[in-house]
Formats: sequence, structure tokens, C-alpha cells
Amino acid sequence: MTLKEPSKKYRPFPPVHLPDRQWPGRVLTRAPIWCSVDLRDGNQALPVPMNVSQKLELFQTLAQIGFKEIEVGFPSASNTEFTFNRRLIEEKRVPDDVRLQVLVQAREDLIERTFQSLIGARRVIIHLYNSTSPAQRRVVFGKSKKEIIEVAVHGAQWIRDRLPRLKGAEVMLQYSPESFSATEVEFAKEISEAVMDVWRPTPRNPMILNLPDTVEVAMPNVYADQIEWMCRNIKNRDSVIISLHTHNDRCTGVAATELGLLAGADRVEGTLFGNGERTGNLDIVAVALNLYMHGIDPGLNFADLNSIIEVYERCTGMTIPPRQPYAGELVFTAFSGSHQDAIRKGLNEWKEKIPAQSNGAFWDVPYLTIDPTDIGREYREVIRVNSQSGKGGVAYLLESEFGIELPKDMQREFGPIANDEVDRLGREVTGAELKAMFWREYVERTAPWQLLRFQAESKDGIVKCRAGLSRDGRPVELVGQGNGPLAALVHGFSAIGAPRFEIASYSEHALGSGEEAAAIAYIKIKAASGNERWGAAVDTNIELASVRAVISALNRL
Ligand code: KIV
Ligand code: ZN
Repeated sequence: MTLKEPSKKYRPFPPVHLPDRQWPGRVLTRAPIWCSVDLRDGNQALPVPMNVSQKLELFQTLAQIGFKEIEVGFPSASNTEFTFNRRLIEEKRVPDDVRLQVLVQAREDLIERTFQSLIGARRVIIHLYNSTSPAQRRVVFGKSKKEIIEVAVHGAQWIRDRLPRLKGAEVMLQYSPESFSATEVEFAKEISEAVMDVWRPTPRNPMILNLPDTVEVAMPNVYADQIEWMCRNIKNRDSVIISLHTHNDRCTGVAATELGLLAGADRVEGTLFGNGERTGNLDIVAVALNLYMHGIDPGLNFADLNSIIEVYERCTGMTIPPRQPYAGELVFTAFSGSHQDAIRKGLNEWKEKIPAQSNGAFWDVPYLTIDPTDIGREYREVIRVNSQSGKGGVAYLLESEFGIELPKDMQREFGPIANDEVDRLGREVTGAELKAMFWREYVERTAPWQLLRFQAESKDGIVKCRAGLSRDGRPVELVGQGNGPLAALVHGFSAIGAPRFEIASYSEHALGSGEEAAAIAYIKIKAASGNERWGAAVDTNIELASVRAVISALNRL
């Protein structure tokens, strides 16, 4: 049961004392170094971990996206992990500019096995970690701060002593005080510097100091303070690459990373779509595309995000929720009428601006943070129609999928008709279904009046027409005259007992192209009673299309 007085069980996280913090006034101007931990942190969180071939496929995709640092596993933890690492190296699957990162605890036997897994690799990062927070020290290890430092230092020494075994390889070392964000900053600095004393990084040969938000225990501003504090207080700052590794327990993994970058970090670890322990690791796609939407090249290529999703889902067995930022099926979709209207107008304005883009036309489409086509999504998925949608969405689908450009006033008539039908169906409808509704409502109306034949000829500026009609199944001959075929038709109807009407609006356009292309005509008629109705018809002959459109409207009067 949730407690009435949670303060009796839980307490706020103590803030870092940093009154002159600098990060709130900064802006991000460039992308960090990215490291994918999909194959390690992401993998260890899967109900069914990836097998070797799935890991190989995902590795290849990560390399194609542009990751230059990929944590491939924990080679000392299992045969699968070891074999995977060996296959990457022996089968020369690692691009020259990609560093293989391997994780290991501060235990000599595990470090030994890790080194065996790396023989023959060209560029590697050996990632050592031990946990440092008060709870871990007390509950898990039962060790004092001094003893915890000794664990890290021994690990660092065992690694340092084996480095000659990787002669010829370019080796970088990484240390993580695991559970950093729950650790006293002074102790995190002390233990990190003890590791630095063993590895002796230099500006030319820096080490990575990864400061994980292993479990999010505070708001992202607190993590940013911790990172800024470390950046300002760690010795030989220019010899360490400060790296962020956030999880998402409080749903702020992305925010914590972004604020951590403002606070001075150089590098970011995370996974595609945030797969990882519990609520996940940092969603690297989100941070990269957040930079992109501010005009910063993230250095990662998500131009075909759908294919990446496909590989990710196949390999991990995870699925992307429909509202996952950037990647979810629905994130570029608007159902609501007012949103659709704004998007449609924004997209139209953008299409007009496209030729002027080099003159500084910036993306500014309401409700769309980025152009969906930049990541391989289509405009056609942007506007979808259900009972929440308005005439704008209906018109957009008819136009974008079938080239049917309903006059504005006709949209006002057809929108509610379609909306009632969609409401009755109680589900989303496709563009094809909307077209079928439009056809039923207008184009296929043949009662009470149906046109069987039509002829018009013009002499001395007067057009005479003759039409064969059926009215409720009975044949009727119509003869009329006027200053054009439509005027002649209206005149003819007045003589055969149809309700009196006049033409109030007319427009037409071609549907598709080529000789056989049909035209569509839209006609609004106004009856003597004041009632107005639209009609529409399609024919390869534009004159016949307009005549049929008049009859369609008359049938709806
Ligand atoms: O979340 C974490 O702290 C980790 C470390 C091993 C870096 O995954
Ligand atoms: Zn982690």
C-alpha cells in the first residue's frame, strides 16, 4: 500500500554543494563520443540473452550506425560472451576505426580471461568497475571505503601488468565507480584518483572515467551537479575522458545525460531505444536526435530508423512501444483534427520553402520536432484518421494518397459525413476507406437521377444540350439551352420537374496523368429553397465529369 506518510520510509537525496554551478547557463554545441552498450548492458537485461549470431548482427548494425566504441560484452562471464569476442576478432568483423570495449570486475581470474579474449584485437577499451555507494559497501561487500579502494587499485594493477600481452593493439583503459550517483562525490574522486595513480593517464594517452547513474536516485540536475563537481575537482582533468552512463529508473535518463553533458562530460554510454536493466539504459537514439533537432550533427546515422528497429527487435526480442520518442509507430502521427490542420499547413509551407532552404529556411512545422523523412519515416503516416480527426485529416489523406483535392467548402460538407462514419466504425480508417466513403457519398450516386447519355453543341454562342436520363428507373429526355453546357443542363432540368437550382461553385482537376487520365469535377448547387449541396464525378471527359457532378449534387439535394 502506498504510505500516507512516505517521509517515514523515504528521504530526499542530499544535493551536492555547488553554489557556483556553471552548467545551467551552457548550451550544447557538439556531439559527445558515443559508446553503445547494447551488447553488454542491454544484453544482460534481456529475458533471453542474444546468441552469438544475434550479437554479430546487432554489432554490424551498430557499426553501420557509426558507433566507434562498442562494449561487446563481459567475456569472462560466459562462453557465449568469450566466443563472441573471439569471433569478432578472428573473423575480422571489427572496422578499423571501431574500439571493442569489454567489461570486467576487479578480480584477477576474470581479468586474465578477459585478456585472453582480446588477443589479436586492434583497438580495445578495457573497462574495469567496482561498486562504491554506501549501500553497496555496506550490504553487498561489507567493506570499508579503504577496502573498496583497494579492490579498485588491485583491479587496475592486474590490468596494467597484463598490458604487454596486447602489444601492437591500441589499448584504452576505463574505470567506473559503479553506483557513482549514489556515492559521496568526495569518495568517488578519491577512488577514481587511486585508479589514475596506477594507470597514469596523460593528455596524449587519456583514460576514460565513466560516472554511472547506475540507479537513478535523484533529479537530473543533481546528477549534473555531481558531474560538474567531478570535472572541476578530479586531478589531471585533461588526462581523463569523463563519460556518462545513465539508467532510467525515474524516467529521466535522457535529461540526466543532457544535463551531464552541459556539466562538462565528453562521452556518453547508452543503448538503442534505451534497452537495459529495469527501466533501461539511456536511449542513445533520443539524445542523438535531440542534438540533431537543434542542428548539431550527432555523428550517428539514423536515416533508416525502421531498418534499425527491425534488426533491434529481431535480435533482442524486445519491441518498441508506439510512443517511444522518434522510433515509436505513433510519434509522428496526429489523429486530432486541430493538430492535423496545423501539421498540414506547416508541411505545405515547408514544401514551398524547400527550394529556398539554402537561404536559411528552418524547419518549423507545428507538432513535428523533426522532419520525419530525415529518419526514413513517411509523411503519409503523419496524419491518420479516427473519430478524433477533423475535416483537415480527411482532406489530407484523400489528397496525399489519391490526389483528390477537395475544395475547402466541400471539405466542410464531407468532413462531418466521414467523421460520423468513422465514429460508427469505432476505429482508425485508411485513406482507401475514406476514398470509398467519398465515392459512395458523391461519385456513385445514381438515384433518383442517372445520366445515360449527354450531347451538347454550340451555335452562335448558345449551347444546346440533350440528355438521356433515368429518374427512379424511368427514362426521361432532357433538352435545354444556355451559355454553356452546364447552364443548358440546369435549364433542361427546370423543364422536367426537377427541383429548381443554380450552380454555386465549380472546380475540377486531373486525377493522375497520361492520356487515359480521368478528371474529377466538384460542383456545388443551390436550390431555390436556399439548400446547398456538393456533388462530384469522375470521367475521362471533363465535360461529362462536370455534368455528372451536377447530377451527383442534385441527387443529394
Ligand atoms: O550501470 C552501471 O553502473 C554499469 C556499470 C558497469 C558501468 O553498467
Ligand atoms: Zn549500466
